[in-house]
Amino acid sequence: MTKFVLILLSLTIFSLTTANAALYKGQRIFVKKCLKCHDAGQSFVSEYKMKKWKKWMKKKGKPLAKLHLKSKKAKKSHKYFKSKKYSKKSKHLKQFLIEYAKDSGNVPACN
Ligand code: HEC
Repeated sequence: MTKFVLILLSLTIFSLTTANAALYKGQRIFVKKCLKCHDAGQSFVSEYKMKKWKKWMKKKGKPLAKLHLKSKKAKKSHKYFKSKKYSKKSKHLKQFLIEYAKDSGNVPACN
């Protein structure tokens, strides 16, 4: 019985930390790659609803990439959006964006 509880406990802790790690990675990508143009930061993220972010981030973030690639103003981001790095890490970014979407109920700390 104790063994069972222990396994359950370690599983919970494990899944909690990996979820947080992905969130943290996503946030880092956002800060490094998106903030220079979208300088409202996390309030930019919370401007849109989860459904919208999900739509933009599906298929490894293709719709979001397209949106930028057809905009001349976003020219500086084109290299990044075309890169493998972007599609590879898009799931972390997605997780972060959805976590702080308008209707997520999560309010980022203001520090
Ligand atoms: C080089 C500057 C630049 C970078 C870097 C950049 N963006 Fe953008 N983004 C823009 C511009 C410019 C637009 C407006 C495109 C248009 O409407 O023509 C835009 C539009 C958007 C929109 C659509 C907003 C709307 O209401 O339609 C979203 C969402 C978005 N960006 C998210 C991101 C995310 C997430 C990242 C980081 C992965 C990012 N952007 C990186 C310049 C940038």
